Amino acid sequence: MRLDKYLAQSTGFSRKEVKRMLHADEVQVNGEFERNPARKVSDEDEVLLDGYPIDTPRERYIMLYKPIGYVCSSDDGTHPSVLGLIELPRADELTIAGRLDVDTTGLVLLSDDGQWCHRITSPRHKLGKIYEVTLADPIDPSYVEKFERGIQLNGEKELTKPAQLEILSENRARVELFEGRYHQVKRMFAALGNRVEELHRDAIGPIQLDDELYEGEWRELTQAEVKSIFNA
Ligand code: URA
Repeated sequence: MRLDKYLAQSTGFSRKEVKRMLHADEVQVNGEFERNPARKVSDEDEVLLDGYPIDTPRERYIMLYKPIGYVCSSDDGTHPSVLGLIELPRADELTIAGRLDVDTTGLVLLSDDGQWCHRITSPRHKLGKIYEVTLADPIDPSYVEKFERGIQLNGEKELTKPAQLEILSENRARVELFEGRYHQVKRMFAALGNRVEELHRDAIGPIQLDDELYEGEWRELTQAEVKSIFNA
């Protein structure tokens, strides 16, 4: 197969991008830089891109600062998907480890390591998720104990698991949840007769949203951050 076709097929980059990589000396075949897109390669040849074998893709671990107006699923026809913000090849193959609503901002973790994502979303591992919430009405101090004891959500059999509520001001609070039911924060406050006006996720377990990121920006996680999920 031609080298440019082989690279495009195995990485997801376009032929045009592949051509640029070849000219930028980013591709090696059997230890030698190769610039000829028509060079024939087979399974016997060792092809490196940026020094890495392309047939063993590295797993990617990403944090994104989700803005309002994006959905954590594929494009729903009205709102764009957060995956469109990650300008990487095969971004559509990334799994979102814990979705946020279209009107929620903050930390979203993504990876193509399914086990790692499962560790984050499975309630068995009790990883805390921290949210900052702005409410329509003043927060009654009795909410703290109600969150701790568990709240009966509309249409659900079981009470919510014990959650921490810290009152920051009359209308603002920090909430830590150890499970992730559908629209959980909004429904917990709704059950107490209040309404969430703004919701922002600040942390998932030991991983905090990087305050150097602006809304819509992302970065790769450090190795320490990736590992911290297994030590939490
Ligand atoms: N709880 C909600 O209600 N919405 C979110 O996006 C996340 C948690």
